[in-house]
Amino acid sequence: MLPVILAASLLTPAAAAASEPNRIVTRGDGIIRSPVRPIAGSGPNLRARQNEVEVLNQRSGTRYGVEIEIGTPPQTLTLILDTGSPNTWINPVCETANLPADCREFAQFDYEKSSSLNVTDNVDVLRYGIGNATIQYVYETVSIGSATIENQIIGIAMESHSIPLGILGVSPPIQGVNEYPYILDTMVGQGLIKSRAFSVDLRGVDNPTGAIIFGGVDTGKYIGELAKLPIIPQDQTPSGADRYYVTMTGVGLTLPDGSIVQSEELEVAVFLDTGATLSHLPTRIYQALAASFPDALYDRESGFYILPCDYTEMAGSIDFYFAGKTIRVPLNDFIWQNGPFCILGVTPEDTEPILGDTFLRAAYVVYDQDNRNLHIAQAADCGSNLIAIGSGADAVPSSTGECTELPTPTGKGNTLDVTGTRPPPATFTGTLPTGMEGGPGPAQSGPGGTSVTGGTLQPTGTPQGENAAGRGVEVGLGAAVALAVVNLLAWVI
Ligand SMILES: *[C@@H]1O[C@H](CO)[C@@H](O)[C@H](O)[C@H]1NC(C)=O
Ligand SMILES: *[C@@H]1O[C@H](CO)[C@@H](O)[C@H](O)[C@H]1NC(C)=O
Repeated sequence: MLPVILAASLLTPAAAAASEPNRIVTRGDGIIRSPVRPIAGSGPNLRARQNEVEVLNQRSGTRYGVEIEIGTPPQTLTLILDTGSPNTWINPVCETANLPADCREFAQFDYEKSSSLNVTDNVDVLRYGIGNATIQYVYETVSIGSATIENQIIGIAMESHSIPLGILGVSPPIQGVNEYPYILDTMVGQGLIKSRAFSVDLRGVDNPTGAIIFGGVDTGKYIGELAKLPIIPQDQTPSGADRYYVTMTGVGLTLPDGSIVQSEELEVAVFLDTGATLSHLPTRIYQALAASFPDALYDRESGFYILPCDYTEMAGSIDFYFAGKTIRVPLNDFIWQNGPFCILGVTPEDTEPILGDTFLRAAYVVYDQDNRNLHIAQAADCGSNLIAIGSGADAVPSSTGECTELPTPTGKGNTLDVTGTRPPPATFTGTLPTGMEGGPGPAQSGPGGTSVTGGTLQPTGTPQGENAAGRGVEVGLGAAVALAVVNLLAWVI
């Protein structure tokens, strides 16, 4: 058993995050930069605490949003940035969102005002870790940064559940085959960027200066070398889905005194998902991390470990090891503060382990779909220097980050025991607010997810098909739009 290695009484203030205004920058050299901002997700409990709502909302930041412009003339919409799914769609149906009020705070697309909308007959059901959306595909003009993509296929939701915003999907096709050209494909096809590669820099929940850079790397946002990690081939991933999977070789903690606690060497496939609010790791790792916080209370219902919020003020980090790189996630970034509750940012997942926002806030990641590599480094913020990603095998420049190294840990302490599972510790007896769902999580893999061959909609005439068509008219895509037989194979790529 581990000794008590972390306790809320060992308070050392963590460094405050630097913050600077964030501008949309587009350069004529194949780099498209767009801000990524944390989006407040609030539970009903927060509404009762009038004075604190604003601050708490900002701190709970459960999703990361990107502003894009759709249509002609352009309408500005906020979408969830998702490296866990490939489809882009807009306009959730707020009535069925888990937090309808939050959903309505964002602008909705008015298709009648767009002269560039071109409706197709194709509808689809997209299923995510949390929630789903029934969409109709249209061709539209989409602008990100000030780069404009013509005739992009996107979905418009006819019905959605538990997803409060549309989604900008930038993952590989989950089944390994494109159904149609996704955003990244079209950007390359239209010459806006040179290869299907982008960088994501998620910031802390109260810091709006994060960014996604299509076709570029910003050396002012990370420390040292980028480590190149091969994306695990589809036939070797845990569920056979093609995702941004890489191999994690260990986990551990850096304690407030600077000493480290580290697991034995591991080989765990994890995929990087900006659409997942928390990280989801094999049970033995989740339990070992939780056991490092002896005053954590286990909530049987949700699987969450509730921590004293004092931990968010404490120095120290949760550490993730990869070949050639360690990413240290400050406790403040790893703990999900939702209203009065501070939750350790990890839940158990033995099938498809995910490193979500609680990890990604501390990592600078370049996703290179063409060469099937991720490049990662410890995120930092020391200015901005954009470098273009070209094409070919060495498209991602091996540029060293300009930010200053973190202090070196003072030495190795105990071993983090991840060899087996353990009984849960003291149990939480309070009540968590409802609606505390995070981001959508990944698009579902396997049959039932989006797929060319395993289409999820019934042919017209069955109850589900009729239902989808009926709602298409209801949301106003127009009675003139005949929703014909759904045939996902009809896409001309
Ligand atoms: C709509 O899309 C179809 C399929 O690509 C194309 O043939 C047609 O010309 C488009 N119409 C307009 C008005 O863009
Ligand atoms: C979407 O999710 C809701 C809520 O879980 C469920 O009732 C509905 O059947 C799902 N829709 C589809 C098409 O799977």
